[in-house]
Amino acid sequence: MMRMVDVIERKRDGHELSTEEIQFFVNGYTDGSIPDYQVSALTMAIFFQGMTEKERADLTMAMVKSGDQIDLSAIEGVKVDKHSTGGVGDTTTLVLGPLVAAVGVPVAKMSGRGLGHTGGTIDKLESVEGFHVEIDNDEFINLVNKNKIAVIGQSGNLTPADKKLYSLRDVTATVDSIPLIASSIMSKKIAAGADAIVLDVKTGAGAFMKTLDDSRELAKAMVRIGNNVGRRTMAVISDMSQPLGYAIGNALEVKEAIDTLKGEGPEDLTELCLTLGSHMVFLAGKAESLGEARSKLEEVIKNGSALETFKIFLESQGGDASVVDDPSRLPQAKYTFELEAKEAGYVAEIVADEVGTAAMLLGAGRATKESEIDLAVGLVLRKKIGDKVEKGDSLLTIYSNFEDVNEVKEMLYENIKVSSEHVDAPILVHEEITE
Ligand code: URA
Ligand code: CA
Repeated sequence: MMRMVDVIERKRDGHELSTEEIQFFVNGYTDGSIPDYQVSALTMAIFFQGMTEKERADLTMAMVKSGDQIDLSAIEGVKVDKHSTGGVGDTTTLVLGPLVAAVGVPVAKMSGRGLGHTGGTIDKLESVEGFHVEIDNDEFINLVNKNKIAVIGQSGNLTPADKKLYSLRDVTATVDSIPLIASSIMSKKIAAGADAIVLDVKTGAGAFMKTLDDSRELAKAMVRIGNNVGRRTMAVISDMSQPLGYAIGNALEVKEAIDTLKGEGPEDLTELCLTLGSHMVFLAGKAESLGEARSKLEEVIKNGSALETFKIFLESQGGDASVVDDPSRLPQAKYTFELEAKEAGYVAEIVADEVGTAAMLLGAGRATKESEIDLAVGLVLRKKIGDKVEKGDSLLTIYSNFEDVNEVKEMLYENIKVSSEHVDAPILVHEEITE
């Protein structure tokens, strides 16, 4: 009989765990037969000893098998999922869904709410009156086959092993382990039914991984796991030193997504969506090359079919699609305030995570699971790093339902720096990692 103490000892001493040993601890932890204290000892041993490529793939698949797996085989075509490691004002999912669906890539998105600076994709979409994700599985599959895009709320019992393990790591100082992070993220994508995966690994102050080296290591680890378990996977490392696009907030980001689908969105958001989207189209087999994929995406923006796909998607899930032509029908904040530059110069820094927290304080995101989101509020940047400003220019607009935003303003002034010297805009896409 296998004993957990031996598994811990072997990892402690730097040995490679077998597939059976990994399945043993994941299953035992999930069903409660192995206690927290033994699993915390093991995760600490993993933290110091690391995991081989084979162990990472085994851990990922053991977590996938610990719960339900979504079966998307009734959907025609290659189901490519995109995952972002999380940023501030990251509107890419809202844009990418309709964008790649318009060139025929099936988008079967399972999404959540979660904590953060703004709501999750579902919260954002719910700023469209009537839109809902409470659809059953059959309807979900029919909608994807018909419209190439649908979003459903997280259902079922996906990767329970990861849920338990992640909470344990959180309180045992073992979150920051590349093999554990990589298998955690990949297990969720695979359980959700993805055939192929495009990862957007953020780097910089607003990201989970603050340095390019760490981001690259995480990206490579995830790409290897995916490819080793038979899911074609690639990663883009993109900038999150400043927020992406201009808007940070729920309805504000829906408006930004509409602008972007029209070809009138922020340059960085547009470029990142075209980059990620090209890889999705390519992996789905809808183009022979990345160049061809990109041309197809540019074409559906230009000819209006990306926007039309967004309308059909909203309508099919009960939403008022007239917001697309008239975004003033989205929830509106009672007050707006401009954050005026105190001096002339160049924007040198927009600290993404702090600016995100300011949006959350206005009510755009959840601080705890119980918090209520205010869909109307948030921030819209008027300047980005490298832009020239005159004294009195608006750096950003605050959309609030509170009359007094002095605290938020103070926080924003501390985190948006203007320098007298010219500053270059940060690089948006650092690397694209395919193997
Ligand atoms: N996000 C996850 O989903 N898992 C981790 O382990 C870390 C970040
Ligand atoms: Ca944005």
